[in-house]
Amino acid sequence: MVTVKTAQEIELMRKANQIVRETLDLLEEKIKPGMTTKQLDKIAHDYITGCNAIPSFLGYDGYPASACISIDEEVVHGIPSPRRYIEEGQIVSVDIGSIYKGYNGDAARTFAVGKVSEEKKRLIEVTKQSFFEGVKILREGVRLGDLGHAIQSYVEANGFSVVRALVGHGIGTDMHEDPEVPNYGKAGHGLRLRSNMTIAVEPMVNAGTYDVRLLDDGWTVVTADGRPSAHYENTLAITEDGVDILSL
Ligand code: MF3
Ligand code: CO
Repeated sequence: MVTVKTAQEIELMRKANQIVRETLDLLEEKIKPGMTTKQLDKIAHDYITGCNAIPSFLGYDGYPASACISIDEEVVHGIPSPRRYIEEGQIVSVDIGSIYKGYNGDAARTFAVGKVSEEKKRLIEVTKQSFFEGVKILREGVRLGDLGHAIQSYVEANGFSVVRALVGHGIGTDMHEDPEVPNYGKAGHGLRLRSNMTIAVEPMVNAGTYDVRLLDDGWTVVTADGRPSAHYENTLAITEDGVDILSL
């Protein structure tokens, strides 16, 4: 069931998402070669709990950490580890979720560590810009297929591919609510968005094939061809004339 939120609910979601945004800003500042992904996870966990919020990923379907940290060919849901070191030249996707007074925030960024290849740099930029290409057309009455189409066309025009196996989602009292929000689609198709619906739009963009596979840890999603992938996500509310991005 797709719900619309009240103005008060949206303000609580803004608070949850501001905590997520601040956590991502802090990680961007702290991330350095030689750190482990577990150390980054601890920074995220401590910051979120210090804001009187709950790290929503911890324990979600048994997920063992507060952050998802996915390096290079890892698309999403990389599990923080004390044995995984950050290195110069990597791109690191960090996904963070928090619950504040019962409402969820969810956002992700991809960071370049030191000097990275031109391809990786462009992948990060195209992924971020694909989100904004989608946002440009969003407002009440627009269909989910229009959004997916806008994101997909931009990504493909830049020579990259959009992951099909994972999608964005509605969000509110649950992290994952209806509807599903694909980053691909056909203009003129799908659910018509209404004011005060809240969704997480999260393009996952691969340098090569859009095919992915799941590692044996049961969580980490990697590109099928081993080429790099980037992720960019914000939670937003649909409005009469556009969107209100809650995690910016
Ligand atoms: N934040 C992810 C999403 O955007 C989901 C994280 S999965 C979890 O949908 F298990 F880590 F919570
Ligand atoms: Co999400």
